[in-house]
Order: sequence, then structure tokens, then C-alpha cells
Amino acid sequence: MTQDELKGLVGQAAAALVEPGSIIGVGTGSTVNRFIDALAAMPVRIAGAVSSSEQSSERLRQAGIAVIDTNAVERLTLYVDGADEIDHAGCMIKGGGAALTREKIVADLADRFVCIADESKLVERLGKFPLPIEVIGMATEQIMRRLRRLGGEPVVRPGVTTDNGHPIIDVRGLRIDDPAALEAEINQWPGVVCVGIFARHRAQTCLLGTSVGVRTLDF
Ligand code: 5RP
Repeated sequence: MTQDELKGLVGQAAAALVEPGSIIGVGTGSTVNRFIDALAAMPVRIAGAVSSSEQSSERLRQAGIAVIDTNAVERLTLYVDGADEIDHAGCMIKGGGAALTREKIVADLADRFVCIADESKLVERLGKFPLPIEVIGMATEQIMRRLRRLGGEPVVRPGVTTDNGHPIIDVRGLRIDDPAALEAEINQWPGVVCVGIFARHRAQTCLLGTSVGVRTLDF
């Protein structure tokens, strides 16, 4: 099976978890696009979606699904999103698509985070994928100095500004033994908007696309 077929498979599996008539949280990325396609094909519609990016909002609207303002909802039962890496505890690296801050905001509203990913994303330890960090522009150099002191090799992602108008730093070479501790440490540096470690907001379930079908991992 191709990677694209695996993404389609987990997109459909996630759509089967959606309660008709509910409002759900929707993440960002190529796997989530397949989830939106599966939502669009459902005979009974959801009431709407809280979206984590302009890109997903656009696709949701094209699918005829109402996009609801984050501030208009108090809680969501379900948030579905992809990941760049996920470990065996449900901790993730996210932000390859530069939507990490809004993704964490929507995940924070949800009772349950369901991660959809193909099997290449499952890792023993996070950190091979460069860790994305959204920052306030004037703090970029200081944050990169701090990251180098931790053993990382940071670069500003060229030509990218997030939906919130900020740059992204990608960091290679960090040793992420304790995702929650590193998330908490980086989060409190002045100028960090959001770090792409999702440990506090980790997934409760991962629907993993494999060559023999969808594997459900519950954490
Ligand atoms: C966007 C993300 C995505 O979930 C992540 O990059 C995975 O994307 P894809 O499904 O295209 O592999 O975090 O900010």
C-alpha cells in the first residue's frame, strides 16, 4: 500500500469515530485532508468543526462543513490530527505544516486527541524529525542560542510565516528523553509562542495505517 493509501485508510477510520451532529476539532496536514474528505462523504453530517489552520478551514468549507470560531465553543469531545512523529506513550512532534500553535489550542479544548498517521511516524524516541518552534521574530536569535546550548542545531524555516504571523525555528539533534520536561522548559523561554512537542496534549489514541490495515493504539 502507498503512503497516500494508508492516509486515506486512517482518515476513514477516524471519520467512523465521529458522532453525527457533533462539533469536532480538526487538525492540519495531508493525512487530515483525507479525514476531511471522509467527513464530506458521510451520509449524516457533523454540525461543524473548529479548525487549526486557514488551510483546513478552506478545505472544510469546500466540503460544505461549517467552520466554528474557537472562542464559541467551551469543549470538544474529539480532536483529530496528524503528527510528524508519535511515540509509544502518545507523545508527538507536530508542526511540520507550521500549524502547531493553533493545533495545540484546539487540542486543549478537546476531551480526546485521536492521532491519525501512517506507520512511518511511530518512533521509539522523539527527535529524529526536526522539532518546530513558533517564535516571536525579535526573540529568534536568543532562542536559537538557547537551543544550541541544549545541543540542538536550529535553523529558521525559510519563507514560512505561520497563520499567526510568526517565524518557525526547526531544531535538529535534540535528545528528547523526557518530552514533557523539554516541552515545559522551552515553553517558558521569552518569545516562544509554541513548541511542537505535544506531551501535555498527547494523543489518547493513534489510528496507525499499516500494510495490514489500521492498527489502533490506545495510550
Ligand atoms: C501540521 C502538523 C501535521 O499534523 C504534521 O505535519 C503531519 O502532517 P502530514 O499528515 O501531512 O504528514 O503538525 O502542523
